[in-house]
Amino acid sequence: MAQATASSKRSLPRRLHPLPLRIMHWINAVAIFIMIGSGWKIYNDDVLFSFLRFPDSIVIGKWAQYGLQWHFFGMWIFVLNGIAYLTYGIVTGRFWQKLFPISVREVLVTVGEALRFRLRHDDLTHYNAVQKVLYLGVMLVGILIVISGLALWKPVQFSELASLFGSFQSIRLVHFFCMAAIVGFIVVHVSLAVLVPQSLVAMVTGGPALKDEAASNGSIVPEMKTPR
Ligand code: HEM
Repeated sequence: MAQATASSKRSLPRRLHPLPLRIMHWINAVAIFIMIGSGWKIYNDDVLFSFLRFPDSIVIGKWAQYGLQWHFFGMWIFVLNGIAYLTYGIVTGRFWQKLFPISVREVLVTVGEALRFRLRHDDLTHYNAVQKVLYLGVMLVGILIVISGLALWKPVQFSELASLFGSFQSIRLVHFFCMAAIVGFIVVHVSLAVLVPQSLVAMVTGGPALKDEAASNGSIVPEMKTPR
């Protein structure tokens, strides 16, 4: 009986995007939406650049104070979910397997292909070099935006952290440019997801089942192929 359960468990196909990853990805998308919309409201209250104000129709929060409350609400979701996602990626070996190695040559070739609209999307199980750079980049920016946010929120309690950035105004600038980088990432990321709808479907359904050649230690398989 126990054997039967074990073997039936083993025969369950593993998906390209496991359920926990999908849940965390979509929670992150909602949290980022809240953080950016409310961040724009807070920004409008004391702008960094006189030429830039965000229209009321695209900000979250009627008053700056409500914007702040939304920002903290989104922050807890973003941070807790982000910690869970990073831990999951490291512990399961997913990051290592999906995002490395990256070679400069591969990045240049992929950028060249993208510029000539010749990027191939036939293998969803393999991230191209540009995707790898973008995903790793957005994770690093995500960490920096949280650190700079902490320094803005509690400049006295985190005074040593705050002093790493120089002045309070430079923390604001770092925080702002991290937001701009994330917005840039989202524009490219969502456009690609729409252009390759099967990747979007896979992020909802889990995508193709993977051939599991890994030993029973639960690590990610070294080579994955889309079933024919
Ligand atoms: C509505 C917004 C979003 C959509 C439609 C979307 C869609 C997708 C899709 C389709 C994939 C799979 C890519 C592939 O298989 O080639 C993916 C992966 C990913 N997305 Fe998004 N995404 C959104 C928002 C975000 C945001 C806001 C972030 C972070 C700031 C993000 C970060 C990532 C990362 C890091 C991965 C790789 C996950 C992994 O394999 O570990 N996404 N997304």
